[in-house]
Amino acid sequence: MTRVTTSLRDWAAERSAMGHLDLSIGFVPTMGALHAGHRSLLERARKENDCVVLSIFVNPTQFDDAADLERYPRTLDADLALAGGLADHVLVPDPADMYPDRYRYRVSENTLSAILEGAHRPGHFDGVLTVVLKLLNLVRPDRAYFGEKDRQQLDLVSGMVRALHLGVDIVPCPTIRDPDGLALSSRNRRLSPGARAAAALFPRILRESADAAGAAGALRAAGLDVDYVEDRDGIRLGAIRIEGVRLIDNVPL
Ligand code: PAF
Repeated sequence: MTRVTTSLRDWAAERSAMGHLDLSIGFVPTMGALHAGHRSLLERARKENDCVVLSIFVNPTQFDDAADLERYPRTLDADLALAGGLADHVLVPDPADMYPDRYRYRVSENTLSAILEGAHRPGHFDGVLTVVLKLLNLVRPDRAYFGEKDRQQLDLVSGMVRALHLGVDIVPCPTIRDPDGLALSSRNRRLSPGARAAAALFPRILRESADAAGAAGALRAAGLDVDYVEDRDGIRLGAIRIEGVRLIDNVPL
């Protein structure tokens, strides 16, 4: 049975009880609005660990736009239904518990976090790294599972774990896509049917263009707003906006 914990004081008791059992712990941090991509992380964690912990926390500090935070889908009942049978524990903390310091203390990286997503979303990665560090400290997992769709986040979290000697194994998991190629994302559910159809061009153009500039041009010609397309270390990364919904993706070159 899945145990749901909302208070961090109760979580401390749960976690300490788990400590006595000598179980390996796999952790899947999320902001909820779970989909098949999250399910694949949970399934992998289930396969590789004795115990699986899922967190659902819409982290306010990683949103640079208050309207985007407001609109972020919150679907707790459906999330718990999806997690049932895969997660042993679901941690659903509230912001005041997570930020008793009101975000006076934060983790900041000063190189990779300044480009790509970081250049378009000021402060975003400080918020991500800070909340991931808090969650890793609370859960103390053996392994934590992150999707490759958020490539820059994955690289920054891996770098933080090495830099701060956190001793947790960060497991990269492949992007899960709809049959037309669009990467699964909690934001996809905000797309109108027309925008959803147009969004399928995004991964196709990223994959099929000869270079980053060509991809950006083809995306614009298709009527999509392009934040960036860049080729780095054998990967083409891009971000676009459709009807105010921001989508990111990356493909191997
Ligand atoms: O990828 C996400 O869902 C979030 O950025 C994360 C890692 C759960 C931190 O809030």
